[in-house]
Amino acid sequence: MMGADLSLRDLLRSSALPQSEARLLLAHVIEYHYQLPRSALISKDELTLSTIAFADWKSLESKRLNGEPIAYLVGKKGFHNIELLVAPGVLIPRPETELLVEIGLREIMLLGGKARMLDLGTGSGAIALAVASAAPNSLVTATDQFPEALAIAKSNAKHLHLEDRVQFAQGSWYEAIGEEATFDLILSNPPYIERGDPHLEQGDLRFEPLDALTDQGNGLSCLEVIITKAKLHLNPKGLIAVEHGFDQSDAVVELMRAAGFSDIQTHLDLAGHRRVASGRK
Ligand SMILES: C[S@@+](CC[C@H](N)C(=O)[O-])C[C@H]1O[C@@H](n2cnc3c(N)ncnc32)[C@H](O)[C@@H]1O
Repeated sequence: MMGADLSLRDLLRSSALPQSEARLLLAHVIEYHYQLPRSALISKDELTLSTIAFADWKSLESKRLNGEPIAYLVGKKGFHNIELLVAPGVLIPRPETELLVEIGLREIMLLGGKARMLDLGTGSGAIALAVASAAPNSLVTATDQFPEALAIAKSNAKHLHLEDRVQFAQGSWYEAIGEEATFDLILSNPPYIERGDPHLEQGDLRFEPLDALTDQGNGLSCLEVIITKAKLHLNPKGLIAVEHGFDQSDAVVELMRAAGFSDIQTHLDLAGHRRVASGRK
């Protein structure tokens, strides 16, 4: 039997991928080629693919077997309450980063729903767009040093109809915004993996942009710049919250103390790791 004659059921059964991954990729193929929903993997499991669709399936399957992240293969990733387009120029948003979004939304609620927020190192736009989507009266600025990332963030803003509420600016950390610009809230998930960390050679990280993952130093250099200069760009009583590595909490809290922040707090991710530190001006 020719490969292209195999039914969806046969393709799933014979795939070397874990079933959950094979389903995700095959669902992507039938959505793209036949505009069929994922449920068709069950309700139309006798369907055979066209030659082109079958070639796409085999290509996706082999790329995944080679380790390429599912999110890059299907071109999207769910984050908080939104879906983001992702491509190899940006970090794939992680579930633990939703903690920063929740901290931001809580702060915006305390401010009566109206707030100016800055997202430093926006990547796909994940934090900025999730906040803008959930807090319709917020005004959000999102920055990144890399034009490739900003291009993807901008297309996500358009896709989510948030382009009027989110401004984008290119540059290294606060250099992207005006010297006088101030915000009620600064959020950031900067590169915080130490140079040479073996995790960089494992799993999805092998395929993600190195500049999004590591500061090429001790892991704390970007956090240090962001924390040290934050007071210049925060309104009185403004809040900064940053994501960090599971073992960097003490060092980040110390950076906040040295920068003179008050009400410094650590926040746990779903795995129970101290993942975010926040402080108030
Ligand atoms: C860990 S990723 C976070 C991406 C996104 N905020 C998220 O949470 O999914 C860090 C981001 O910081 C950006 N970045 C790295 N160095 C930067 C710099 N010096 N100034 C601004 N952005 C930078 C990277 O391009 C990347 O998009």
